[in-house]
Amino acid sequence: MLTIRDYRPADSAATAEIFLRSIREVASKDYDPAQVDAWAKVEDLDAWARRRASRPTWIVEHDAAPIGFSDLEPDGHLDMMFVHPEYQGMGAASLLLATVEAAARDQGLVRLFTEASLTARPFFEKKGFVVLAAQSVEKRGQLLQNFRMEKSLR
Ligand SMILES: CC(C)(COP(=O)(O)OP(=O)(O)OC[C@H]1O[C@@H](n2cnc3c(N)ncnc32)[C@H](O)[C@@H]1OP(=O)(O)O)[C@@H](O)C(=O)NCCC(=O)NCCS
Repeated sequence: MLTIRDYRPADSAATAEIFLRSIREVASKDYDPAQVDAWAKVEDLDAWARRRASRPTWIVEHDAAPIGFSDLEPDGHLDMMFVHPEYQGMGAASLLLATVEAAARDQGLVRLFTEASLTARPFFEKKGFVVLAAQSVEKRGQLLQNFRMEKSLR
C-alpha cells in the first residue's frame, strides 16, 4: 500500500539512496556509464539534507518505508522526482505528482515546470506536461540531455 507524507530531516539518507539507485538502476538505460557516474553523486550529505528541507518535499512510502520523493519550489518548479528501482510502475510517482499538483493549486500557481530526464519524459507526458525544449546540461564534466517541460494548472 502506498501512502504520502511530508519529508522529515531524518529522511535525508533514504532520499539520497533512492536518488542514487534510481539513476544507477533505472535512468542508466537512457544514459551512458560516464553520464550516470557524473549524475549519481551525493558528495555532501549535509548539503543534500539542507536542499531537501529547503522546500516542501513529499515522501511516498510502501509499508511505511520510503520508496520515492518529489518537491515543489515556490515558483512552480518541480526539482526532484525519483522512485526506488524495486518499486517502479506501482503508481508511486503518480501519487507524488498528484500531491505536488494539489499543493501548487493551493498556492495559486498556474503552472508546474521541470527538467525531465530521458527516462522520465514519458511519465510527465502521460501526466499532461508538454516539452518546451530539449537541452543539454553539464554535470561534472558530462553533458546530459533532458527536456524542459511544463503543465498548465489553469
Ligand atoms: C520516472 C519515474 C519517476 C516514474 O516512477 P513510477 O513510480 O514508476 O511511475 P508510475 O508507476 O506512477 O507511472 C505512471 C504512468 O507513467 C508511465 N511511465 C512511467 N515511467 C515510464 C517510462 N519510463 N516510459 C513509459 N511510461 C512510463 C507508467 O506506465 C504509468 O502509466 P499508466 O498510468 O498507464 O499505468 C521513475 O521511473 C524513476 O524514478 N526514474 C528514474 C529517475 C529519473 O529519471 N527521475 C526523473 C528525474 S527528472
